[in-house]
Amino acid sequence: MRTLFANGTIVTADGSYRADVLVEGETIVQIGAGLAASVTADEVIDAGGKYVIPGGIDAHTHMKLPFGGTYAKDDFETGTRAAAFGGTTTIVDFAVQSKGETLHQGLDKWFALAEGMAVADYGFHMIMSDVTDASLPEMDQLVDEGVPDFKLFTAYPGVFYSPDDHIFRALKQTAKNGGLILMHAENGPVIDVLAADQVAKGVTDPIGHGLARDSRMEGEATNRVIRMAEVAGAPVYFVHMSAKEALKALVEARGRGAMAWAETCPQYLYLTLDDLGHGFEGAKFVCSPPLRTPDHAVELWNALKRDDIALVGTDHCPFDFHGQKEMGRGDFRKIPNGLPGVEERVDLMHQAVADGKLSKERWVEVVSTAPAKMFGMYPRKGAIAVGSDADIVVYDPARTHVLSAKTHHMDVDYSCYEGMTVRGGSDIVMSRGSVIVRNGEFTGRKGAGKFIKRSRATFPRIS
Ligand code: URP
Ligand code: ZN
Ligand code: ZN
Repeated sequence: MRTLFANGTIVTADGSYRADVLVEGETIVQIGAGLAASVTADEVIDAGGKYVIPGGIDAHTHMKLPFGGTYAKDDFETGTRAAAFGGTTTIVDFAVQSKGETLHQGLDKWFALAEGMAVADYGFHMIMSDVTDASLPEMDQLVDEGVPDFKLFTAYPGVFYSPDDHIFRALKQTAKNGGLILMHAENGPVIDVLAADQVAKGVTDPIGHGLARDSRMEGEATNRVIRMAEVAGAPVYFVHMSAKEALKALVEARGRGAMAWAETCPQYLYLTLDDLGHGFEGAKFVCSPPLRTPDHAVELWNALKRDDIALVGTDHCPFDFHGQKEMGRGDFRKIPNGLPGVEERVDLMHQAVADGKLSKERWVEVVSTAPAKMFGMYPRKGAIAVGSDADIVVYDPARTHVLSAKTHHMDVDYSCYEGMTVRGGSDIVMSRGSVIVRNGEFTGRKGAGKFIKRSRATFPRIS
């Protein structure tokens, strides 16, 4: 099967230009001006007036994550399908090692969740809940098996939390094996005390979640982990950075040459602490770290422009408001943490282009190219280049649409952005040579998504 994308503007992280793109099988085979005159194709897709961009890569999702006595609602079918509608053709999901399990036992469960289900490609990070003499050398195997990064938590005591010595040992292991530690940096033990203080004061509504999870405790944990990483000689990546204090620690560290990177998420750029504050409705917005006051978002946007924040993931972890978020009525600590967003990320970040906050090239970088590089998939993914996977989106920068639970494809009963009009939308979404979304209709196939065996991150490291 040969498909020609004709008359579009190719937008990449490095620049934009008018050219046609020829796809054969699963791969981009030719790029050039006026190809229509010289090549034959089974289908010609007219991308006139549109952008031709590499498929989005969401490197932070949680399909079916167990949390707080329930499970994130989307599975790999509904989650990757919703992602595709939003222009994302690859996700990197977090497999979970529970306490007492080997890493492979946890990973195998995620393979079972994804295989035969995903409509688009996926990789895995490994959540490490048990750093032991046995799991440390097992990290080396995972790095070689295409799962080269490991998420650890200074948050969630009693669940995913790791004490400092465990984090330090894991960092030392990645300094040797070339893997990457991803950190959820909030001081969980202190936050638990602050949360209990809120409840003791009678604050049991979701706003208590935001008040207890003090941004300085994200800054403290971020700085602590960076220092550990520096001593270990290891790179470190901060997931879902939300706080200006954390950003300050990151920027200072990068200034002195530390190998530290971070992502943020649309919710920390567009939503605020106020969203947590409308009685129990605020439960829809309970995630960790929590939504912050607007001054934090201002700094995050600037950091994203400057590349101090490398990329944008969603932390997609959807729980229905009815029946799931409601588990925390009367005690915000029992609300499952997480927000939906995998479908909305590319459009929300394109809105930043429409608003003049990001160039269109930086938009492509933060939603596709930077995640591909950071997570060992570039240039197979994240690029419009000969030899790259034909993960291609024809994006209409002019069309507007309204984000709403009534029309979205995520398996969750609300949208965090209900009623928001965004500029831009994905018209055609191709995954490895097959069109899986065409003008609002799903044309893909359950099970067509493949596991992507990833390489080590492509940034300099200390040997
Ligand atoms: O609230 C969140 N972020 N839920 C998902 C788990 C995590 O910490 O990423
Ligand atoms: Zn986290
Ligand atoms: Zn997460």
